[in-house]
Amino acid sequence: MSGVTIIGCGFVADLYMRSLQVSGIPVLGAYDLNTNRLAAFCHHWGVARCDTLEAVLQAQPRDGVVLNLTNPSAHYDVNKACLLAGHHVYSEKPLALEMSHARELHRLAAEKSLLLASAPCSVLGEAAQTLAKAVRDGVAGTPRLIYAELDDGFIPQAPVREWRSETGAPWPYEDEFQVGCTLEHAGYYLTWLIGMFGTVKSVTAASASVIPDKLGVQGAAPDFSVATLFFENGPVTRLTCSIAAPHDHRIRVIGDAGVLALQKAWDNGAAVRFHRRMRIRRRLLESPLGRRIKLRRPTHPKVGRWGAASMNFALGPAEMLAAIAEKRPCRLSSDFALHLNEVTLAVQNAGATTGAQEMTTRCPPMEPMPWAT
Ligand SMILES: NC(=O)c1ccc[n+]([C@@H]2O[C@H](COP(=O)([O-])OP(=O)(O)OC[C@H]3O[C@@H](n4cnc5c(N)ncnc54)[C@H](O)[C@@H]3O)[C@@H](O)[C@H]2O)c1
Repeated sequence: MSGVTIIGCGFVADLYMRSLQVSGIPVLGAYDLNTNRLAAFCHHWGVARCDTLEAVLQAQPRDGVVLNLTNPSAHYDVNKACLLAGHHVYSEKPLALEMSHARELHRLAAEKSLLLASAPCSVLGEAAQTLAKAVRDGVAGTPRLIYAELDDGFIPQAPVREWRSETGAPWPYEDEFQVGCTLEHAGYYLTWLIGMFGTVKSVTAASASVIPDKLGVQGAAPDFSVATLFFENGPVTRLTCSIAAPHDHRIRVIGDAGVLALQKAWDNGAAVRFHRRMRIRRRLLESPLGRRIKLRRPTHPKVGRWGAASMNFALGPAEMLAAIAEKRPCRLSSDFALHLNEVTLAVQNAGATTGAQEMTTRCPPMEPMPWAT
């Protein structure tokens, strides 16, 4: 197996390292603009240090993948530099902050026959794949409506200044507030939904700032959004993101026969349950406990919980490396990344007055993982 090189050695890079280790993926080198951060990261993890971006791009093998784990404002420039140097790229979300930039990256990858994928990759994880299989198998009957929630609690009142990664990187709360919870988090369910149903035809959304002062951070993005997604071939979906409402990471697929539900978006091992709908005398209800749906085959390496997540962040890079080695299409395609970017930006930028927004990019549903067929 080839390996990956990391650009950006901050908070999330430590989560990637744990995941890359349990997945057996070699880390060939790392680079960060911040030399102190770079030194702390490379020393802790025993990773080779690259002192410039050029050094990374020269040392990187053609059959490897560059992981762009920089801040969102740097994604476009770093992704572009890597593609221009002829490397496959896995970018943290979002692919780019502007749709014109995302399209340019997509075009560049196509011209150079390179893979370009964007996080999140939990769509390749056990919980998402189990839910998708249950939907394909019609466990809840025909799906009619989906509610997906990504509410994180009233984050500006959390002790965010004390949150640190394993090698001591502070949680970048200023950047998180400026980028906004929709760009940061909507993808955790949008990827699952686009993976299951393919193209979102149109989006009707609203976004707002409901907490005026977020630890004095200037230029904060909306901290709340709600979107109604209309798929070309899928049920109408309501997606909510906030850093204000109490923590709620549920997804519920409401079908003719009952409800498929999962409580934890950020846990690859989260239980998927089917709550059968029934009539008892004059009442209608869904069974409160639900039957757990399980896949029969072994799935993928799991990582323990760190902070809010129990996610294997290496599932995406592993899928790319396998696709390169096997010379097959990658489930995390550049069409998938571009469509995800367009839908996410439509929700984030909706504000108070936008009407229905027709999407211009397209993407077919995703092939299930081999162990989830
Ligand atoms: N913090 C989280 O919990 C979390 C979880 C999942 C995904 N993410 C995503 O990961 C990405 C990084 O977030 P983070 O929390 O690690 O941020 P961070 O600020 O902790 O780390 C980013 C690092 O990138 C470096 N950097 C910035 N521009 C660079 C450039 N041009 N070249 C080289 N290095 C550069 C910075 O010096 C910093 O060390 C974001 O896209 C974020 O959405 C974060």
